[in-house]
Amino acid sequence: MKIFKYKNELKVYLQDLKAQKKTIGLVPTMGALHKGHLSLISQAKKINDIIVVSIFVNPTQFDNNDDLIKYPKTIENDIKLLESVFCDVLFYPSVKEIYNEKIVADTFDFDGLEHKMEGKFRDGHFNGVGTIVKTLFEIVAPHRAYFGQKDFQQLQIIKKMVKKHRINIKIKGCSIFREEDGLAMSSRNARLIEQQREAAPFIYKTLKEVRKKFGVENPNNLTQWVEDQFKKYPLFTLEYFTIADEKTLETIKNKESGKKYRAFIAIFVGKIRLIDNIRLHNL
Ligand code: PAJ
Repeated sequence: MKIFKYKNELKVYLQDLKAQKKTIGLVPTMGALHKGHLSLISQAKKINDIIVVSIFVNPTQFDNNDDLIKYPKTIENDIKLLESVFCDVLFYPSVKEIYNEKIVADTFDFDGLEHKMEGKFRDGHFNGVGTIVKTLFEIVAPHRAYFGQKDFQQLQIIKKMVKKHRINIKIKGCSIFREEDGLAMSSRNARLIEQQREAAPFIYKTLKEVRKKFGVENPNNLTQWVEDQFKKYPLFTLEYFTIADEKTLETIKNKESGKKYRAFIAIFVGKIRLIDNIRLHNL
């Protein structure tokens, strides 16, 4: 695997491959890699000649400095994992290489998607995500880029950005990779202490119940039911649960035929904030 720290060197290397008509798949990450990230790589490997993974803990998408400082950094292990799945290129730039002296995000208009769900609780988060992903797209200029449905709002926002800015990159959404007990894989899971880790699968269990009940219950009642479920457990503090339209991310009051819906959750287990979601259509 080739490792690049400097964008210009990476660009030159990729230009050569593009001239040879090789297709490039980009998987942007913040490192602390786990099987969820690797599942994106294996998806990308199916139809691209060259896989570029980026590892960059992007400061402008953190609204909480403590969260940024505590973000796990495991680069040696990450490199081993990437080599084990035959990743071709790792882009691992410094903050200075990406932002120069000015560590600020651009402002984006994602047609309101940025104000829903995560946007309500993480101020400026999606401007930070938009800024780094657009920058990576400009540096790598891949044919396709891969994002997990785990961060479904992020995925929809990237699709919106590509459309609005007429960026010629195919955005591929990949399904959520889970632990055997159903907990969605996340770099944050490593921070759960034993008792919290044992309780955490209750999140997905509840989402599966929601999927079952969605056929017969109305969305409001179902939301109330979920809130009641988590109130019973002092380990959990629910931040939001909502049933929303996949496209607009608007919370729904009533179901309409032909629309696609998802249930979204953000919840604290102790001090660790986890998110998850589940598809409610085409069951
Ligand atoms: P990060 O949290 O490292 O995630 C990188 C990619 O892996 C994202 O597209 C995310 O949705 C996906 N992912 C994480 N856990 C997953 C799981 N269990 N199953 C499937 N996919 C999963 O998301 C970011 O980084 C950043 O915001 C980034 C896009 C890199 C911009 O900085």
